[in-house]
Amino acid sequence: MKINITETVLRDAQQSLIATRMNYNEFEAILEKMDSVGFYSIECWGGATFDSCLRFLNEDPWERLRKIKSIVKNTKLQMLLRGQNILGYKHYPDDVVRKFIQLSVKNGIDIIRIFDALNDYRNIKVSVEETVKCGAHAQGCIVYTTSPIHNLDKYVELAKQLESMGVNSICVKDMAGIMGPGEAYNLIKAIKNVVKLPIYLHTHSTTGLAPMTYLKAIEAGCDGIDTAISSFSGGTSQPATESMNYGLKQLGFTTGLNENMLKEINDFFKPLKDKYIKSGLLDPYVLGTETDALVYQIPGGMLSNLISQLKQQNSISRLDEVLLEMPKVRKDLGYPPLVTPMSQMVGVQSVTNVLLGERYKNISKEVKAYVRGEYGLAPGDINPGLIKKILGDEKPILTRFADTLLPEFNKIKNVIKDMAMSDEDVLSYILFPQITEKFLNEKDDKKAVKVSYTIRKV
Ligand code: CO
Repeated sequence: MKINITETVLRDAQQSLIATRMNYNEFEAILEKMDSVGFYSIECWGGATFDSCLRFLNEDPWERLRKIKSIVKNTKLQMLLRGQNILGYKHYPDDVVRKFIQLSVKNGIDIIRIFDALNDYRNIKVSVEETVKCGAHAQGCIVYTTSPIHNLDKYVELAKQLESMGVNSICVKDMAGIMGPGEAYNLIKAIKNVVKLPIYLHTHSTTGLAPMTYLKAIEAGCDGIDTAISSFSGGTSQPATESMNYGLKQLGFTTGLNENMLKEINDFFKPLKDKYIKSGLLDPYVLGTETDALVYQIPGGMLSNLISQLKQQNSISRLDEVLLEMPKVRKDLGYPPLVTPMSQMVGVQSVTNVLLGERYKNISKEVKAYVRGEYGLAPGDINPGLIKKILGDEKPILTRFADTLLPEFNKIKNVIKDMAMSDEDVLSYILFPQITEKFLNEKDDKKAVKVSYTIRKV
């Protein structure tokens, strides 16, 4: 049986280990080899790469994608998309979502992995539809988490919903690496029993369970897994590509990967890893095995963000308290899976609750918006006391939040006029206005343009 391998070094692995700070120039020279080794796909865009390019690397993310595509001609390029959030942290109107997908495909993306943090599929419907319409592969996600309200039946129900929405494949996405081999086996088996589509599993090595989890998932019929070339594997990243390949082949599975070339690819990334360790960008802490995550459910990027957030506030000694506070905040919010943007919301609120010495003394505007229903339906019940505190007598939104948004692509394109050289620039601006404005002005030395507009219909 053939197992599809998706290589994550250019997206999730570097996002989980080094806060997505790898420059295009640092990996350009290995792309051709990565294209010929036999990966099913290379995850290289979306997630935090877009934001990081503009904010930290002085790179145009669209140009990065085009450059990758010009070298990677045979292997499918894959991206991660947060449904109606696109790559940002709030909901965008449908016209922006559609335009973003059209241009992602036009610039080189073949597979779009689409998720909603709350598994509220009203929030991925438009993305899935547009991806299919553009002739690309729409992979719908089931965001995996454990809680008193999540069970096998619920996940099987989600898989059926995805199939009926017309996705091309399904990815079970465990961003925290908390899924054990038993759970993986039962879950993949149960989904395979009711759904005809290929099933992929995405997990992280954080807790050390991942290779066992992958193997049992594959035994249950899983069609593909995500791995990272070994120098950027382990810890909060994915299991090593070479090790999974070795083990799977020994058990009679085929992967289509060429071992010699995998070694050459890894030899290329090794010195980069050394460089990031020396510069402090790669904290060896995130490379270890963190079994506390089995209790606290800390996803790959979240633990490293939390550590740097606490370090900045000279409060790293409070890490244990924050880790204890986090599950409580999560319960108050109706057990959302800890994936972007929920992981940031729960993380920041937990840090605030601990550092201020009083719970919910300050509530972030994101948590307020969540409780108001602007992110979709919470998986479980939100703490009524918290609802009261935030909403007072106001009623939460029960419809799809994007239905309350007016189209804005053309409106903003008109307002920012020649600051943007292309529709791609306009989208960058809509997603990250301040940093894109700075980026485009520095790039072209144009005058800053001030923009004001309203996007709410009601
Ligand atoms: Co991930």
